[in-house]
Amino acid sequence: MSKRITDKLSYICRQIFRVKRYIKGVLVTTIWRARGVKIPDRVLIEGPTPHIWRRGQLILGSRVSFRTISTKSRLAVNNMASLIIHDRCFFNSNCVLDCSVSISIGTRSMIGDDVQIRDSNYHEVDEGGGVFCAPIQIGKNVWIGNGSKILPGVEIGDHSVVGAGSVVTKSVPSGVVVAGNPARVIRKIKASEGYFRP
Ligand SMILES: CC(C)(COP(=O)(O)OP(=O)(O)OC[C@H]1O[C@@H](n2cnc3c(N)ncnc32)[C@H](O)[C@@H]1OP(=O)(O)O)[C@@H](O)C(=O)NCCC(=O)NCCS
Repeated sequence: MSKRITDKLSYICRQIFRVKRYIKGVLVTTIWRARGVKIPDRVLIEGPTPHIWRRGQLILGSRVSFRTISTKSRLAVNNMASLIIHDRCFFNSNCVLDCSVSISIGTRSMIGDDVQIRDSNYHEVDEGGGVFCAPIQIGKNVWIGNGSKILPGVEIGDHSVVGAGSVVTKSVPSGVVVAGNPARVIRKIKASEGYFRP
C-alpha cells in the first residue's frame, strides 16, 4: 500500500477516534450533570466511563479527560465534602479519588494510572485518637507518576512531579521532583510560571 493511502487511512482513523471521543464525552457529561456533577462544557472520555459516587460537591472544570485502558477510575465524594478538578486535568486508568473533606486538583495536572488520592485515614491509629481527615490540595501542572499514593493533608505545589510508586506523606513545595516511600525531594525542576507539560 502506498504511503499516501496509509497516511489517508490513519488520518481517517484519527478523525473517527476524535468523533467517538466527542460523542461519548457529550453523553457522559449529560448523564453526570443529571447526577448533580457541575461541568462547564464537557468531559473527554476514552474507553469505559469512570465510576462516580457523589453525596457532596463534585465540580469538574473544562475538558477534564479520563482514559481507561484497564480498570475504570473511581471518584467518591462523601456528604459535605468537596472535590474540585480544574480545567484540562488528565486521569489515566484505575485512579481512585476518595474525598471525605476536600480535594482540589489544579489546572492541567496529570494523574498516572493506579494513583490513589484519599483525604481520610478512615480508621483511628491510637485508641480514642479519632480518624485523621485533612484536605488535599494539588497545584496546577502537577504530574503524579503511576502507582503513587497521596495521603490526607498533603499539599503539592505548582509544576511539581511525583515519581512513580511514591507515597506522599508530607506537603511538597512548587517546582520539585519527589520520589520514594516516604516521598523525598530528589531535585528542583525547570518550569516558568506559565508552563504546562504537553
Ligand atoms: C519522576 C521521574 C520522572 C524522575 O525523573 P528524573 O528527574 O530524570 O530522575 P532521575 O532518573 O535522574 O533520578 C534521580 C534519583 O531519584 C531516584 N528516583 C527516580 N524516580 C524514582 C522513583 N519513582 N522512586 C524512587 N526513586 C526514584 C533515582 O533512582 C535517582 O537516585 P540516585 O540519585 O540515588 O541515583 C521518573 O523517575 C519517574 O518516576 N518516571 C515514571 C513516571 C510515570 O509514572 N510515567 C507514567 C505515565 S503517568
